[in-house]
Amino acid sequence: MCGIVGYIGDKKAVPVLLHGLSKLEYRGYDSAGVAVLHNDNINIVKTKGRLKALEEILENKSLEGSLGIGHTRWATHGAPSDINSHPHLSQGSSVAVVHNGIIENYLYLKEELEEKGYKFVSETDTETVAHLIDFYLKLGMEFLDAVIKAVDKIEGSYALGVICDSYPDMLIGIRKDSPLVVGLSEGENFIASDMPAILNYTKDIYLLEEREIAVVKKDGVTVYDRNKNVVKKEIFKVNWDVEAAEKGGFDHFMLKEIYEQPKVVKDTFSGRLKEDGIVLDHIDLNMENVNKIYMSACGTASYAAGIGKSVIESICRIPVFTDIASEFRYNNPIIDEKTLVIVVSQSGETADTLAALRLAKEKGAKTLAVVNVVGSSIAREADYVLYTVAGPEIAVASTKAFSAQIAAMYLLGLFFGLKLNKISMEEYRGYASELKELPQKMNTVLQKAGKLKELSDKYLNVKNVFYIGRGLDYLISLEGSLKLKEIAYIHSEPYPAGELKHGPIALIEESTLIVGHLTRKELFEKTISNLKECKARGAKVFAITTEDNGLIGSTADDVFYIPKTSYLFSSILSNIPQQLFAYYMASGLGNDVDKPRNLAKSVTVE
Ligand code: G6P
Repeated sequence: MCGIVGYIGDKKAVPVLLHGLSKLEYRGYDSAGVAVLHNDNINIVKTKGRLKALEEILENKSLEGSLGIGHTRWATHGAPSDINSHPHLSQGSSVAVVHNGIIENYLYLKEELEEKGYKFVSETDTETVAHLIDFYLKLGMEFLDAVIKAVDKIEGSYALGVICDSYPDMLIGIRKDSPLVVGLSEGENFIASDMPAILNYTKDIYLLEEREIAVVKKDGVTVYDRNKNVVKKEIFKVNWDVEAAEKGGFDHFMLKEIYEQPKVVKDTFSGRLKEDGIVLDHIDLNMENVNKIYMSACGTASYAAGIGKSVIESICRIPVFTDIASEFRYNNPIIDEKTLVIVVSQSGETADTLAALRLAKEKGAKTLAVVNVVGSSIAREADYVLYTVAGPEIAVASTKAFSAQIAAMYLLGLFFGLKLNKISMEEYRGYASELKELPQKMNTVLQKAGKLKELSDKYLNVKNVFYIGRGLDYLISLEGSLKLKEIAYIHSEPYPAGELKHGPIALIEESTLIVGHLTRKELFEKTISNLKECKARGAKVFAITTEDNGLIGSTADDVFYIPKTSYLFSSILSNIPQQLFAYYMASGLGNDVDKPRNLAKSVTVE
């Protein structure tokens, strides 16, 4: 969850690196730094804080040179500080390294190196790599051999960018369990942990596979496997441009991304939601051989998985189990060749989700990944991939990627339902026409954003919030509560409405806010009773419900009506008001909405 960029060419490296880092800040932003090679010397500037702090230093301190590496950090080993920031130098400053991932045996390596006389200046695991490479160089090895030898000693995950003062014509990139790509252009080449960092300069990319190593020179790139055999790589052409990742007139990326949701859902359905069934390219799963489904993911994606469980079970009557990926991987789940394991991930790089996928494969299950980032590790390793078509999501708190994931769950529910003959073509067409109407209904919700802004003003000082509902209404409450915590830093809990009286009701007092979800007509009265119980104890009630709910009346202090749709598909609509509510609360409180404290967009460590 840090960002790496590297450059070699004729341009001055620093502006290219800073531009790249600005596109990667969402991956980590507690410190940043660059290292540039000039006249056989490596010069480094790095600092704790946002990229802006680094830019300010570099305004007054010109770094010459056309070969360099840069990094934005999200601390894992060693607190955010100037000294712990990347790049890290070897003793004697001959080697500079930027690293994403975690070196698990770094304490052991550190001890070994200290015995050889190496002095460590930082608390990071990364510094061991710089010294190790230096150690092998001093034994007389070539740069490439020294890097290969050093990474052979490393246990854990890494994407590395390395430069060496005796090799002014090359930059080395290597990866394992952490993404790294190479950008190709005329007379200049790049490395980056994520494509947006280099899309300004090139759309031609090599996607490095596990343990591949790229020797990047001004006029060409050679990729080797771990045994130093040359690998013939195919060029991956990126078909989205960097403008797609700009704010486009909105105050924050998050708001822009909330407004993109109708399009994202439409795009995710596009070409798939056909008159005669769901068409999912390359997913030729034989569902007759599947007797249960497991779904695993982290964070917001895990809530999409929860909704997927409910939808698939309702339509297909096949058992679906869900488990958070960090639990799944250690829970010895009961899965075999007859299990389909579905993992859900926006980035396709989340460490626990990747581990869950690998475990499922090891146990012989069929695996399907619902992923947003094309070419990501999870997408590449799963047997089948269903891409959500959300485009790059920049705000740390996921919004449009989540809606696209829910849309994908609806597609899967119908896809499996048809394959298993659980729904007739007539039923399918009924569902499909409801799905096709969703983007327009999402727009209708967005048009009433002003109401959520008013509510956020009213509740700005609230300290405790409960999000409650039943069934899918509870499952979507999980996401509403998470959004409020993530960006508004307000304590909130999601709870099944009927369970409130078994404990949490003791916490309800005058200042508590209850957000109630009610989209299932048969259960309106039940949930209304629960809301009344809260109101009787002084809580304020904000209800999100469908237009046909004539019962809510004075139970709620505030009501937000969403258009009517089948209960099965209601979550994608009822989620939007709670996204906007969290957004306006966070911006009203003056929080850094797109980069909330302590959170990272892509969590590539355990
Ligand atoms: C982080 C992000 C969340 C995201 C989760 C899973 O915690 O801040 O927004 O839901 O990771 O990420 P993934 O990329 O696997 O969907």
